[in-house]
Amino acid sequence: MRDISNIVILTGAGVSAESGLATFRGPDGLWEGHRVEDICTPQALARDPVLVQTFYDARRAALATVEPNAAHRALARLDAEWTGDLLIVTQNVDDLHERAGAVRMLHMHGELKSALCRRCGGRAPWATDLIDGPACGACGQAGGLRPDIVFFGEMPYQMERIEAALEDADLFVSIGTSGAVYPAAGFVQTARHYGAQTLELNLDPSAGSHFFHETRIGPASQLVVEWVDELLDG
Ligand code: APR
Repeated sequence: MRDISNIVILTGAGVSAESGLATFRGPDGLWEGHRVEDICTPQALARDPVLVQTFYDARRAALATVEPNAAHRALARLDAEWTGDLLIVTQNVDDLHERAGAVRMLHMHGELKSALCRRCGGRAPWATDLIDGPACGACGQAGGLRPDIVFFGEMPYQMERIEAALEDADLFVSIGTSGAVYPAAGFVQTARHYGAQTLELNLDPSAGSHFFHETRIGPASQLVVEWVDELLDG
């Protein structure tokens, strides 16, 4: 096994579950009878903008009621103290990694706290509701803003940067994701292909568990803290 210098971490809804944000596919799933694939699409936004905007406005407002948990804090500590390369790629659209202090991170599926203009393509930080059709700060068009969320059928953000990090990774760690959604679900295979060790930390084995060298089962607040301690303190 080669020495570990470059680390890529993929996180999913499971890392925020203990902060009180429901996961997508669990029994207490966020979508209450709706298949996520039926709501989270450009077609759904065009067909029923009130439903989709209201849904995301509620999710954005809910961020004010939750706090980062021990897993977010441990990853922020790793980010601050790890001297090699590190990239936290989150599928989550909440802001809990950055509120815990993580810096070397990106949101591949977009962010609730950002709005995207359908007219000019501009992205801007956004903290309030979109349902009332506010104007875009860049082009002035009213009613054109949508949540800056990567819907099904759209290309995730920063894929080139992620692919490059996966190619260079010595260790790939997947935390709290079911492995149901590509391309993120395929990152383990890419990282392995280029020689990385691979570790999964999850409450249940994910769909792609068999691709990992090692899987540890348990809550993120416990497993992530233990793993970061192991890595930093030996
Ligand atoms: N600790 C660790 N893992 C947990 C915890 C916990 N406390 N609670 C739940 N999990 C695990 C579940 O076992 C499951 O494997 O987190 C995973 C959550 O899976 P999903 O709900 O499918 O969420 P995610 O994998 O992030 O979804 C991927 O799908 O809907 C889209 O764009 C959305 O980014 C999302 C993507």
